[in-house]
Amino acid sequence: MTTGDEAPVDAPALRRKVFGRRTGHKLRARQADILETGLDRLAVPLPPAGTVLDPKTLFARPVGEVWFEIGFGGGEHLAAQAEANPEVGLIGAEPFVNGMASLLRHVEERHLDNVRVLADDARLLLAALPEASLARAFLLFPDPWPKSRHHKRRFVQQETLDLLARALKPGGEFRVASDIMGYIEWTLAQVGLHHAFEWLAEGPADWRARTADWPPTRYEAKAIAAGRQPAYLRFRRLP
Ligand SMILES: C[S@@+](CC[C@H](N)C(=O)[O-])C[C@H]1O[C@@H](n2cnc3c(N)ncnc32)[C@H](O)[C@@H]1O
Repeated sequence: MTTGDEAPVDAPALRRKVFGRRTGHKLRARQADILETGLDRLAVPLPPAGTVLDPKTLFARPVGEVWFEIGFGGGEHLAAQAEANPEVGLIGAEPFVNGMASLLRHVEERHLDNVRVLADDARLLLAALPEASLARAFLLFPDPWPKSRHHKRRFVQQETLDLLARALKPGGEFRVASDIMGYIEWTLAQVGLHHAFEWLAEGPADWRARTADWPPTRYEAKAIAAGRQPAYLRFRRLP
Protein backbone atom coordinates (compact mmCIF):
# COMPACT_ATOMS: atom_id res chain seq x y z
CA MET A 1 0.00 0.00 0.00
CA THR A 2 2.68 2.51 0.91
CA THR A 3 6.16 3.14 -0.41
CA GLY A 4 9.08 4.92 1.15
CA ASP A 5 8.73 7.95 -1.16
CA GLU A 6 8.45 11.09 0.90
CA ALA A 7 5.29 13.09 0.26
CA PRO A 8 6.44 16.74 0.16
CA VAL A 9 3.53 17.83 2.33
CA ASP A 10 3.06 16.79 5.93
CA ALA A 11 -0.44 15.31 5.81
CA PRO A 12 -1.16 15.50 9.56
CA ALA A 13 -0.32 19.21 9.48
CA LEU A 14 -3.20 19.60 7.04
CA ARG A 15 -5.64 17.90 9.39
CA ARG A 16 -7.61 20.94 10.39
CA LYS A 17 -11.28 21.68 10.58
CA VAL A 18 -13.25 21.08 7.40
CA PHE A 19 -15.45 24.12 7.25
CA GLY A 20 -19.17 23.50 6.96
CA ARG A 21 -21.52 20.89 8.33
CA ARG A 22 -20.64 17.23 8.77
CA THR A 23 -24.10 15.90 9.49
CA GLY A 24 -27.59 16.85 8.34
CA HIS A 25 -30.87 15.02 8.91
CA LYS A 26 -30.72 11.81 10.92
CA LEU A 27 -30.09 8.73 8.77
CA ARG A 28 -32.80 6.08 8.52
CA ALA A 29 -31.80 2.59 9.71
CA ARG A 30 -31.18 1.30 6.18
CA GLN A 31 -29.07 4.34 5.26
CA ALA A 32 -27.06 3.94 8.48
CA ASP A 33 -26.50 0.28 7.63
CA ILE A 34 -25.36 1.09 4.06
CA LEU A 35 -23.05 3.75 5.49
CA GLU A 36 -21.47 1.43 8.03
CA THR A 37 -20.96 -1.58 5.76
CA GLY A 38 -19.93 0.62 2.82
CA LEU A 39 -17.31 2.48 4.84
CA ASP A 40 -15.96 -0.81 6.23
CA ARG A 41 -15.48 -2.04 2.68
CA LEU A 42 -14.57 1.11 0.75
CA ALA A 43 -12.91 3.64 3.08
CA VAL A 44 -9.43 4.63 1.94
CA PRO A 45 -6.87 4.16 4.72
CA LEU A 46 -4.70 7.28 4.98
CA PRO A 47 -1.05 6.21 5.18
CA PRO A 48 1.25 7.28 8.02
CA ALA A 49 2.91 10.69 7.65
CA GLY A 50 5.88 10.65 5.31
CA THR A 51 4.64 7.73 3.22
CA VAL A 52 2.57 7.76 0.06
CA LEU A 53 -0.39 5.72 -1.09
CA ASP A 54 -0.50 4.41 -4.66
CA PRO A 55 -4.19 4.89 -5.49
CA LYS A 56 -4.27 2.11 -8.10
CA THR A 57 -3.63 -0.43 -5.32
CA LEU A 58 -6.91 0.53 -3.66
CA PHE A 59 -9.09 -1.24 -6.20
CA ALA A 60 -9.98 -4.93 -6.14
CA ARG A 61 -9.19 -5.26 -9.86
CA PRO A 62 -6.69 -3.45 -12.12
CA VAL A 63 -7.78 0.04 -13.21
CA GLY A 64 -6.23 2.00 -16.09
CA GLU A 65 -6.26 5.35 -14.33
CA VAL A 66 -7.59 7.01 -11.18
CA TRP A 67 -9.91 10.05 -10.91
CA PHE A 68 -10.59 11.98 -7.71
CA GLU A 69 -13.71 13.96 -6.77
CA ILE A 70 -13.45 16.57 -4.02
CA GLY A 71 -16.65 17.18 -2.01
CA PHE A 72 -18.96 14.90 -4.02
CA GLY A 73 -22.10 15.88 -2.04
CA GLY A 74 -24.79 13.29 -2.86
CA GLY A 75 -22.37 11.43 -5.16
CA GLU A 76 -24.48 11.67 -8.36
CA HIS A 77 -21.55 12.75 -10.53
CA LEU A 78 -19.09 10.28 -9.03
CA ALA A 79 -21.47 7.32 -9.36
CA ALA A 80 -22.33 8.26 -12.96
CA GLN A 81 -18.63 8.56 -13.86
CA ALA A 82 -17.86 5.21 -12.22
CA GLU A 83 -20.68 3.55 -14.13
CA ALA A 84 -19.72 5.12 -17.48
CA ASN A 85 -15.99 4.39 -17.03
CA PRO A 86 -15.57 0.91 -15.55
CA GLU A 87 -11.86 0.88 -16.48
CA VAL A 88 -11.25 3.92 -14.25
CA GLY A 89 -10.91 3.84 -10.45
CA LEU A 90 -12.89 6.67 -8.79
CA ILE A 91 -12.02 8.04 -5.36
CA GLY A 92 -14.27 10.56 -3.66
CA ALA A 93 -13.73 12.66 -0.55
CA GLU A 94 -16.73 13.99 1.38
CA PRO A 95 -16.90 14.68 5.13
CA PHE A 96 -20.68 15.28 5.06
CA VAL A 97 -22.15 12.05 6.45
CA ASN A 98 -25.49 12.20 4.62
CA GLY A 99 -23.66 12.74 1.32
CA MET A 100 -21.45 9.74 2.00
CA ALA A 101 -24.54 7.59 2.76
CA SER A 102 -26.10 8.76 -0.52
CA LEU A 103 -23.02 7.83 -2.60
CA LEU A 104 -22.72 4.44 -0.90
CA ARG A 105 -26.36 3.74 -1.77
CA HIS A 106 -25.60 4.49 -5.44
CA VAL A 107 -22.57 2.18 -5.25
CA GLU A 108 -24.67 -0.63 -3.82
CA GLU A 109 -27.67 -0.21 -6.13
CA ARG A 110 -25.56 0.02 -9.29
CA HIS A 111 -23.09 -2.69 -8.21
CA LEU A 112 -20.11 -0.39 -8.75
CA ASP A 113 -16.77 -2.07 -8.03
CA ASN A 114 -14.49 0.85 -8.97
CA VAL A 115 -15.23 3.34 -6.17
CA ARG A 116 -13.30 4.14 -2.95
CA VAL A 117 -14.10 6.90 -0.46
CA LEU A 118 -12.59 9.18 2.15
CA ALA A 119 -14.98 10.60 4.78
CA ASP A 120 -12.63 13.49 5.43
CA ASP A 121 -10.85 16.52 4.01
CA ALA A 122 -9.77 15.88 0.40
CA ARG A 123 -6.45 17.64 1.06
CA LEU A 124 -5.36 14.83 3.38
CA LEU A 125 -5.52 12.34 0.55
CA LEU A 126 -4.05 14.70 -2.05
CA ALA A 127 -1.04 15.19 0.22
CA ALA A 128 -0.54 11.43 0.52
CA LEU A 129 -0.75 10.60 -3.19
CA PRO A 130 2.38 9.98 -5.24
CA GLU A 131 3.33 12.47 -7.93
CA ALA A 132 1.42 12.10 -11.20
CA SER A 133 -0.94 9.42 -9.85
CA LEU A 134 -4.29 10.97 -10.88
CA ALA A 135 -5.59 11.50 -14.40
CA ARG A 136 -8.52 13.74 -13.39
CA ALA A 137 -9.75 15.75 -10.42
CA PHE A 138 -13.23 17.25 -10.00
CA LEU A 139 -14.36 20.12 -7.77
CA LEU A 140 -18.04 20.68 -8.45
CA PHE A 141 -20.02 23.48 -6.82
CA PRO A 142 -17.58 24.01 -3.92
CA ASP A 143 -18.78 25.91 -0.86
CA PRO A 144 -18.58 29.53 -2.11
CA TRP A 145 -17.63 31.39 1.10
CA PRO A 146 -18.83 34.69 -0.37
CA LYS A 147 -17.57 37.07 2.35
CA SER A 148 -14.07 38.46 1.70
CA ARG A 149 -12.88 37.53 5.16
CA HIS A 150 -13.80 33.89 4.43
CA HIS A 151 -12.10 33.64 1.03
CA LYS A 152 -9.18 31.87 2.69
CA ARG A 153 -11.60 28.98 3.39
CA ARG A 154 -12.26 28.42 -0.31
CA PHE A 155 -10.93 25.12 -1.59
CA VAL A 156 -9.15 26.77 -4.52
CA GLN A 157 -5.99 28.32 -3.06
CA GLN A 158 -2.35 28.28 -4.16
CA GLU A 159 -1.64 25.55 -1.56
CA THR A 160 -4.35 23.20 -2.84
CA LEU A 161 -3.36 23.94 -6.45
CA ASP A 162 0.16 22.86 -5.46
CA LEU A 163 -1.26 19.59 -4.08
CA LEU A 164 -3.35 19.04 -7.20
CA ALA A 165 -0.47 19.90 -9.53
CA ARG A 166 1.70 17.37 -7.79
CA ALA A 167 -0.88 14.57 -7.83
CA LEU A 168 -2.11 15.09 -11.40
CA LYS A 169 -0.28 13.58 -14.37
CA PRO A 170 1.00 15.97 -17.04
CA GLY A 171 -1.93 16.30 -19.45
CA GLY A 172 -4.36 15.39 -16.66
CA GLU A 173 -7.52 17.43 -16.16
CA PHE A 174 -8.87 19.49 -13.26
CA ARG A 175 -12.57 20.36 -13.61
CA VAL A 176 -14.33 23.03 -11.57
CA ALA A 177 -17.98 24.08 -11.74
CA SER A 178 -19.79 26.79 -9.84
CA ASP A 179 -22.92 28.90 -10.11
CA ILE A 180 -21.29 31.68 -8.08
CA MET A 181 -19.54 34.00 -10.52
CA GLY A 182 -17.32 35.36 -7.74
CA TYR A 183 -15.99 31.84 -7.23
CA ILE A 184 -15.42 31.33 -10.96
CA GLU A 185 -13.49 34.61 -11.17
CA TRP A 186 -11.54 33.66 -8.05
CA THR A 187 -10.69 30.26 -9.54
CA LEU A 188 -9.52 31.76 -12.83
CA ALA A 189 -7.38 34.27 -10.94
CA GLN A 190 -5.86 31.64 -8.63
CA VAL A 191 -5.17 29.22 -11.48
CA GLY A 192 -3.81 32.10 -13.56
CA LEU A 193 -1.26 32.79 -10.82
CA HIS A 194 -0.22 29.15 -10.74
CA HIS A 195 2.40 27.79 -13.10
CA ALA A 196 1.03 24.27 -13.57
CA PHE A 197 -2.35 24.66 -15.30
CA GLU A 198 -3.78 25.95 -18.53
CA TRP A 199 -7.48 26.82 -19.03
CA LEU A 200 -8.99 24.79 -21.86
CA ALA A 201 -11.45 27.39 -23.15
CA GLU A 202 -11.44 28.94 -26.57
CA GLY A 203 -14.79 30.68 -26.38
CA PRO A 204 -17.84 31.17 -24.13
CA ALA A 205 -19.45 27.94 -25.37
CA ASP A 206 -16.61 26.08 -23.65
CA TRP A 207 -17.53 27.24 -20.16
CA ARG A 208 -21.28 27.82 -20.44
CA ALA A 209 -22.16 24.16 -20.92
CA ARG A 210 -20.99 20.83 -19.55
CA THR A 211 -19.21 18.49 -21.95
CA ALA A 212 -21.10 15.26 -22.76
CA ASP A 213 -18.85 13.31 -20.38
CA TRP A 214 -19.71 15.55 -17.40
CA PRO A 215 -22.77 14.29 -15.48
CA PRO A 216 -24.89 16.75 -13.47
CA THR A 217 -24.96 17.11 -9.68
CA ARG A 218 -27.65 17.96 -7.16
CA TYR A 219 -26.25 21.45 -6.54
CA GLU A 220 -26.21 22.16 -10.23
CA ALA A 221 -29.93 21.26 -10.44
CA LYS A 222 -30.69 23.55 -7.48
CA ALA A 223 -28.73 26.42 -9.02
CA ILE A 224 -30.49 26.12 -12.38
CA ALA A 225 -33.91 25.85 -10.70
CA ALA A 226 -33.09 29.07 -8.85
CA GLY A 227 -32.23 30.80 -12.15
CA ARG A 228 -28.44 30.80 -11.76
CA GLN A 229 -26.32 29.82 -14.77
CA PRO A 230 -23.34 27.66 -13.75
CA ALA A 231 -19.92 27.90 -15.40
CA TYR A 232 -17.80 24.85 -16.14
CA LEU A 233 -14.02 25.17 -16.18
CA ARG A 234 -11.54 22.60 -17.49
CA PHE A 235 -7.83 23.01 -16.79
CA ARG A 236 -5.01 20.90 -18.15
CA ARG A 237 -2.00 20.00 -16.00
CA LEU A 238 0.95 21.30 -18.01
CA PRO A 239 3.98 19.03 -18.55
C1 LIG B 1 -21.95 22.92 -2.08
S1 LIG B 1 -21.60 21.25 -1.81
C2 LIG B 1 -21.53 20.56 -3.47
C3 LIG B 1 -21.68 19.06 -3.49
C4 LIG B 1 -21.61 18.39 -4.87
N1 LIG B 1 -20.28 18.55 -5.44
C5 LIG B 1 -22.65 18.90 -5.82
O1 LIG B 1 -22.30 19.58 -6.81
O2 LIG B 1 -23.85 18.59 -5.61
C6 LIG B 1 -19.87 21.27 -1.38
C7 LIG B 1 -19.42 19.98 -0.68
O3 LIG B 1 -18.01 20.01 -0.48
C8 LIG B 1 -17.71 19.37 0.75
N2 LIG B 1 -16.39 19.85 1.19
C9 LIG B 1 -16.07 21.08 1.66
N3 LIG B 1 -14.76 21.16 1.95
C10 LIG B 1 -14.23 19.95 1.64
C11 LIG B 1 -12.92 19.39 1.71
N4 LIG B 1 -11.90 20.12 2.17
N5 LIG B 1 -12.73 18.11 1.32
C12 LIG B 1 -13.78 17.38 0.87
N6 LIG B 1 -15.04 17.85 0.76
C13 LIG B 1 -15.26 19.11 1.15
C14 LIG B 1 -18.87 19.75 1.65
O4 LIG B 1 -19.05 18.82 2.71
C15 LIG B 1 -20.04 19.77 0.68
O5 LIG B 1 -20.74 18.53 0.66
